[in-house]
Amino acid sequence: MRFLITAGPTREAIDPVRYISNKSSGKMGYALAGAAAHEGHRAILISGPTALDIPPGVDFLPVESAQEMYEAVERYIHQCDIAILCAAVADYRPIDPAKQKIKKNSDTMVIELEKTPDILGSVRDVFQFEGALIGFAAETNDVEVYARGKLERKKCDLIVANDVSRHDIGFDSSQNEVTLIFPDRSEPLPKASKEHIALEIIERACIIQHNKTTKK
Ligand code: CTP
Repeated sequence: MRFLITAGPTREAIDPVRYISNKSSGKMGYALAGAAAHEGHRAILISGPTALDIPPGVDFLPVESAQEMYEAVERYIHQCDIAILCAAVADYRPIDPAKQKIKKNSDTMVIELEKTPDILGSVRDVFQFEGALIGFAAETNDVEVYARGKLERKKCDLIVANDVSRHDIGFDSSQNEVTLIFPDRSEPLPKASKEHIALEIIERACIIQHNKTTKK
């Protein structure tokens, strides 16, 4: 199978030296790309800036902003069978980033933000991708309810949901405990390393894609 995987945070420019971003380490997405390659699949990893090494055997495409990530996904998704969108894309960006470094001339400052493109939400409706589609949902409360809402709204086959209010798992941790939300059921996975969870997700993704193509 050919996988497209997004990972890491995005950076949204305020001026040439400043940006808005988030605490995503990229570990889950890199683990997914590494697991796919390890299992003999092709993987294109489209990643925002991280401190991680590129997993062996993976095609790597670095990006910075949500807009760049959107364009990279649009460009490569039709070369793939399965898309796993794991990146922590910034939801908002400065409307009009300054061309030159902003000077601290005033005591307060207001930056007007606009929504970034919803990459996962565009995969079916804009890019018309028909392969297996897997998204992530990081929630602090009502994890399953919100995750199921995302599954339906963004027409995913699977949402991997995790509770980011817990400090022992998720964002910067090397461990994770997730619930797999399918259209017809939910399946909690036991706490494990991100590498182990990645292998489970890759396996499920292949089954979903296999079922899609044999149904046609
Ligand atoms: N995502 C994306 N593009 C964005 C924002 C998010 O592709 N601009 C993807 C993430 O990679 C993840 C999923 O969408 O797979 C969940 O992101 P999230 O921001 O939690 O979903 P939203 O529907 O935007 O909901 P909310 O922020 O209100 O929780």
